[in-house]
Amino acid sequence: TFKRCPPLPTTSVIIVFHNEAWSTLLRTVYSVLHTSPAVLLKEIILVDDASVDDVLKDELDEYLKRLPIVRVVRQRERKGLITARLLGASVATGDTLTFLDAHCECFNGWLEPLLARIAENYTAVVSPDITTIDLNTFEFMKPSPYGQNHNRGNFDWGLSFGWESLPDQEKRRRRDETYPIRTPTFAGGLFSISKEYFYHIGSYDEEMEIWGGENIEMSFRVWQCGGQLEILPCSIVGHVFRTKSPHTFPKGTQVIARNQVRLAEVWMDNYKEIFYRRNQQAAQMAKDRAFGDVSRRVELRDRLQCKSFSWYLKNVYPEVFMPDLNPLHFGSVKNVGKDSCLDAGENNEGGKQLIMYPCHGLGGNQYFEYSTHHEVRHNIQKELCLHGTEGTVKLEDCQYKGKSTSVAAEQKWELRDKQLFLPGLDMCLSARHEHPTLTTCNPSDRYQLWLFV
Ligand SMILES: *[C@@H]1O[C@H](CO)[C@@H](O)[C@H](O)[C@H]1NC(C)=O
Repeated sequence: TFKRCPPLPTTSVIIVFHNEAWSTLLRTVYSVLHTSPAVLLKEIILVDDASVDDVLKDELDEYLKRLPIVRVVRQRERKGLITARLLGASVATGDTLTFLDAHCECFNGWLEPLLARIAENYTAVVSPDITTIDLNTFEFMKPSPYGQNHNRGNFDWGLSFGWESLPDQEKRRRRDETYPIRTPTFAGGLFSISKEYFYHIGSYDEEMEIWGGENIEMSFRVWQCGGQLEILPCSIVGHVFRTKSPHTFPKGTQVIARNQVRLAEVWMDNYKEIFYRRNQQAAQMAKDRAFGDVSRRVELRDRLQCKSFSWYLKNVYPEVFMPDLNPLHFGSVKNVGKDSCLDAGENNEGGKQLIMYPCHGLGGNQYFEYSTHHEVRHNIQKELCLHGTEGTVKLEDCQYKGKSTSVAAEQKWELRDKQLFLPGLDMCLSARHEHPTLTTCNPSDRYQLWLFV
């Protein structure tokens, strides 16, 4: 059959900024101007999310008079990324919307692949492959044309976004280097979408505040409602990854938890419980129904006849590690003798001993699950297991990772009369010393008695 080249749609580039440095903001603007064909670039819309830096006001307006294709719209009150993007979209006149962060540099030819894919299928929501701009030197890491190691987006059960390398199945599906990479989630800062589809699919949840969680919400929504989220390796944009969030949260970080509860309530069905177990603040908000009204989002899900979260996990992210939907026990693990809790300690990503710490009941470092496979898992960001060897007890990667793997003897604990007994070594977990250790079992030693609370 004869395939015609579709005419490429035009785009409006929308860049939200909040107290961005003048130089990085203009670098972004100029790199768009220098790399985008004039026939495709309808306009650049800068949306000011209530910056307080003076240069970003009159001086910026004055400066931009020389660039008639660039306009600024301003949000007077600090409302965050979501409403700012919606404001930008509302004044956009292009066929597609291209959202960029305010500290990017577009690489030659970045725009056409994004627009071509949307022309091919307007349900595609497409991101460029992101390369790093060095945080300190601002050097642009030029991509290598061969053997690129691509990453895709994922999420953990605390609902944080992360990157992972492509699983074999996805590598096999892609016939060549130009092939779109299907991604379960996206970082959400840089993407193009048909303007019509953006509104059809429910733009953003307007009641989410400031920043955080909106990219996961959109990822679940696009997939569950019939779209597709892709990274296009032929489109490359550099981005400055900052080490800490520049966003201030006028109402505190519970804003992120609230956004996450909203998305969990609307899109995750019963799987939301896995998240709530890991975030006590979110669980409490859900219980008190203190996350605002989600009825319009639920209506959207019904109207678009979106699929279930279990469909999403099975079809879009089959590699996900599924924690037990119903672990045998979960919560904090309190020691009777010491009257304090088992705690992963700061930044324990495995390989480190645990500590005993006063029980705080917030989850986090004190969150453990006693799994149906009899592991004691600390599994918010990573799947870590309580791992006992003669002498020390550490957190290590769980040996059991689903089909065709099994639980290591060092990680298989029996709960018997409040003791955490490791049959493989015939020893019990004790809190007698500074770090939890293994010791000869003695049922009358209160330091060997543990309770999930
Ligand atoms: C676009 O992609 C969707 C999902 O893969 C598919 O069902 C649909 O047929 C495609 N549309 C076109 C025009 O190719």
